[in-house]
Order: sequence, then structure tokens, then C-alpha cells
Amino acid sequence: ADEPLVLGIETSCDETGVGIVRGHTLLADAIASSVDEHARFGGVVPEVASRAHLEAMVPTIERACETAGIRPYDVDAIAVTSGPGLAGALLVGVAAAKALAFALGKPLYGVNHLASHVAVDQLEHGPLPEPTIAMLVSGGHSSLLRVTDVTGGVEPMGATIDDAAGEAFDKVARLLGLGFPGGPVIDREARSGSSVAIDFPRGLTARHDLERHRFDFSFSGLKTAVARWVEARERSGEPVPIADVAASFQEAVCDVLVRKALDAASSEGIEDLVIGGGVAANSRLRVLAESRAADLGIRVRVPRPGLCTDNGAMVAALGAEMVARGRTPSPLDLPADSSQPI
Ligand code: KG4
Ligand code: ZN
Repeated sequence: ADEPLVLGIETSCDETGVGIVRGHTLLADAIASSVDEHARFGGVVPEVASRAHLEAMVPTIERACETAGIRPYDVDAIAVTSGPGLAGALLVGVAAAKALAFALGKPLYGVNHLASHVAVDQLEHGPLPEPTIAMLVSGGHSSLLRVTDVTGGVEPMGATIDDAAGEAFDKVARLLGLGFPGGPVIDREARSGSSVAIDFPRGLTARHDLERHRFDFSFSGLKTAVARWVEARERSGEPVPIADVAASFQEAVCDVLVRKALDAASSEGIEDLVIGGGVAANSRLRVLAESRAADLGIRVRVPRPGLCTDNGAMVAALGAEMVARGRTPSPLDLPADSSQPI
């Protein structure tokens, strides 16, 4: 019936995203990406990303409104990613959202990027079960969370102690000469390789590590192991079997992620797991999580790949939830916080 119409703006990294939702219904998800401009640097260049956001911001808002068939002043609230992310990139979105909220006289909601990667699932699978275990795996974060209320009750259970899962994909893709971003290319290469060709290490799964780091992740040792293996191969003069390395690396990441996520759910007696963030787009992760969870009677929710990577719909989704739960809007001097915790 009267569900809130919310426009959400995302600019934490290299995607300018504008999403429009009514409650849990997705009406528009417009996106402009500067990823091609960063490719030759092998990673996102903050200054380049900020400029691209500035250029894309208004056209992307217009495109989203057109798709949703609304005018900006129809919305009930404006939501925006206030952090974490690249400071200069966040500022572009926050400034745009403030200007819109001020001009339209509508409330402004600053939202946490990590929580919005979890909230976005509601657009596809309906209200999140409460409590639920959430695994957030992106380019900057890898965390296990216990979620009782995605707008405020999010409790970290564990996180990476070095690289994020997506970062590992990006670094390994780079050393294999596959380009940037690494996740999608490795996912594709791995399809023609063998996941058991090379036995790469599973970080923080040894018994002595589990005592202190049961729900934490570590991917830098895995990245180094891949680098050593590839170097040894090159020194021997034999060709590097790219597809096998990709598949075996991907298996090592997904195996640990799924094991720890299901262990977190079991340890809390929680039967629902939601996976979000760019790495949740990984085809092997999705299959492995589904099959192992089924054996344990745990339900897994993963949004479709387009909603896993950064987008505006996720921001609108969390904003709508904040409106629905009567959360206090943000002041118009809302700061961008590049290291905002969940
Ligand atoms: O959530 P996201 O779009 O941005 C951040 O908040 O970081 O995640 C981007 C990360 C990148 O590291 C990218 O390589 C990874 O997600 N990624 C994937 C896949 N698609 C994107 N990793 C593995 N498999 C994929 N299919
Ligand atoms: Zn993200």
C-alpha cells in the first residue's frame, strides 16, 4: 500500500549508482561505471573515480527517474552511501543527495555501504529473516555478521585480517595477466579449468588458527602461494595453466568462505544465511554455498549478480527500510566517512 518511495545514491567506489524502490519493489537501477578508465592502472584511481561521479551524477539520476516513471519530487526520501569507501568519491554522492533533499524538502538518510550490500537482498527475496547470518564479500571487505536489524542491529563476528576476498581475486588476476577487475575474469577462466589441479592453502582453517580466528579470514597467504606457484612454473619453462590456476584459486577462496559462513550460522543456531558484495556474484561461490547449506538445513539467499556488485538500488533498499522502521533522518551536514564501521 503506502510503502515509501526512495531514491538511493551510491558513489563509494567506481560505480555511480542511482536506484529507486518502493518498499521492497525495485523500480529503477541506473548505473554508470568508470571501471574502464581504471583498467590500465590495475586498480581504482580515486581522483579519476571522483571526477567520473561528478560527470555521471545528474544524468544517472535522470535516467533512474525516467525508468521508474517518476519525477524527483515524487520521492518520500533520499538515501545516500555515507561510507565506507573512497573519501572523494563518497563526497560527490553525499553532496548530490544533500542538494536534492534540501531542494525537494525531503528527508535525507545516510546509509552504510556494507549494510546496504545485505539489505539489497530484500528487493529479490523479500523481508530478511531476523536474525540472519550475513557474509559480506567485496573488494574492500570480507566479514561475517550477525544481523538482527539491518538498519542498526548488525554485529560483526569476524572479518579478514589482511586482504579482502575481492582484493585477492583482483591481485591474482593481475599476476596471471588477466586484467581488472579480477573477479569476473577468474570466474570465467575457471570454468575451463580444474578446481583440484593445485592444492592451494585455506587461510585460518588449521586447528590452532580456529581458536582465535574461527570466523576471520586471511587471503594474503593464498595470493602469495599462487604467485610462488606461477613463478616456479615460469622458471621451469613450462606454460602456466591459467584456467587450472584460476579454478584452484577460486576453489580455495570459496571453500573457506562457505565453510566459515556455515560454521557461523551453526554456532549461532541460525538457519538463514545471506551473502552480499561483489564476490557474491561468483558462480562457484553460489553453487558451493547452496549445496553445502542444503546438507545442513540452512537456507541461503544470494541476490542476482547485478545486485551483488555496487549499485544504487542497494542504497535505496536500505533507505526504505530506515523509513519503514521510523529511523531518524540524517542532518543536512551529514559527513562522508571513508572508514565508517558497520
Ligand atoms: O561490492 P563491490 O562491487 O565493490 C566493493 O564494495 O568493493 O565488489 C567488487 C569486488 C572486486 O574485487 C571484484 O573483483 C569482485 O568484487 N567480483 C567478483 C566477481 N564479480 C565481482 N569476484 C569473484 N567473482 C565474481 N564473479
Ligand atoms: Zn561494495
